[in-house]
Amino acid sequence: MGKRGTPLGIDVGGSGIKGAPVDLKKGDFAKDRLRIDTPHPATPDAVAQVVDQVVDHFEKETGASPIGITLPAVVIRGTVLSAANIDPAWLNTDAAALIKEHTGRAVTVLNDADAAGLAELHYGAAQGERGLVLVTTLGTGIGSALIHDGTLVPNSELGHLEMDGHDAEHLAAASAKVREDLSWEAYIERLQRYYSMIEMLLSPDLIVVGGGISRKSEQFLPQLKLRAPIVPAKLRNRAGIVGAARLAADLAG
Ligand code: BGC
Repeated sequence: MGKRGTPLGIDVGGSGIKGAPVDLKKGDFAKDRLRIDTPHPATPDAVAQVVDQVVDHFEKETGASPIGITLPAVVIRGTVLSAANIDPAWLNTDAAALIKEHTGRAVTVLNDADAAGLAELHYGAAQGERGLVLVTTLGTGIGSALIHDGTLVPNSELGHLEMDGHDAEHLAAASAKVREDLSWEAYIERLQRYYSMIEMLLSPDLIVVGGGISRKSEQFLPQLKLRAPIVPAKLRNRAGIVGAARLAADLAG
């Protein structure tokens, strides 16, 4: 695929909006990523303006090629249907239409964990896996991507399963470890309960764990007792951008 066909991936997170052109053969950035602080409040219009800056920055590399954008929310056919970790102003916004209006480019919007799942499926820890793969991201919240025989089942939202009367992500996301200053032992106990519940409900064949904390996976993954193998994600913080760009390119044909 020539330079003009290089898709752009953009990851909209709580603290930063990050983008890079993606080399689909390698499953990696074709150029260093650009990061801009997420505006506060992170309303759709404010975020769309930052997205414009990222798009302009990579104009030379990506030309008129498709753009894939992740949001930490349920996204159905471009429209945002939940706002657990983003500004409530996003609810019912047609994010794909908004960004398309700003950029004039083909735009695909998807859930952040689903994007990470697609990246792990095509280029990372879930490559070539059949059966049921569950990719989870442990960060501010818990994101999840369910993939069956290589097909994503979008918007699974397993971070919101209930644990002790709370959203599981409130107790077991990486942010909970920091907020409550939990020891590894105490945090592992929560992860054990979380992933045991997932196994009981879904019987996955493979569990992949991403998010910043997966950099320290040797501190906690070997301690978890599960039937399914549980392994660290390979694309780490590149997963959202790579997965979003890949889906945008696939949908554009
Ligand atoms: C949101 C998900 C998101 C996850 C990780 C959750 O709070 O509901 O949509 O994937 O956080 O960002």
